[in-house]
Amino acid sequence: MLVAPSLLSADFSRLGEEVAALEQAGADWVHFDVMDGHFVPPITIGPRTVEHCRRYARLPFDVHVMIENPERYIEAFRDAGANTLSVHVEATRHIHRVLDTIRKAGLKPGICLNPGSPLTLVEPVLKEADLLVMMCVNPGWGGQTFIDGSLDRIKDARALRDRLNPALDIEIDGGVTAETGRQSVQAGATVLVAGNFVYTHPRGKKAAIDQLR
Ligand code: DX5
Ligand code: ZN
Repeated sequence: MLVAPSLLSADFSRLGEEVAALEQAGADWVHFDVMDGHFVPPITIGPRTVEHCRRYARLPFDVHVMIENPERYIEAFRDAGANTLSVHVEATRHIHRVLDTIRKAGLKPGICLNPGSPLTLVEPVLKEADLLVMMCVNPGWGGQTFIDGSLDRIKDARALRDRLNPALDIEIDGGVTAETGRQSVQAGATVLVAGNFVYTHPRGKKAAIDQLR
């Protein structure tokens, strides 16, 4: 099981130092939340920020794009130093082609699924992905509550993964705490994203990451 802290809860005026601090604290991956003000209301960061952060750590950069037409930015994130690039199935009309383009660009392709979208949407392309990101909150903001019913969806996703693509990682994004994280892993998750939990932990980031593990 891997822990991927989300920079969404970090101090955005010092992201380089924040990335280095996560590496020091034992993170497996760093999760970047890219928002365009269209697919979700907030606007966060783009490829240039990822590129600058790349100088501060060696650990894999897990880039989650909450943007319309993600196909426009695949090369930019590759050049910026991303390792995985996860796109929402709801944000493109051509998810199969986008995943294929991401892989051909040399990145690991990920598919994200909103809490209100049926799992059947990703079934036809599950073999094309290295990562399935199960959103357990509606995307856009950190610090929200894990949505009821998410655990059943994770179990269903795990069964689908075991049948169609056993190498696929199942990443849980949104509302992860020690409790929901443990339940998610029991339900079949292999990667936990955590923003608020890591950044508000009373004993600091390392203790939060250790506790999730
Ligand atoms: C939400 C983002 C998440 C978010 C998780 O749109 O995709 O990565 O940062 O934050 P927490 O762990 O605070 O729910
Ligand atoms: Zn995310």
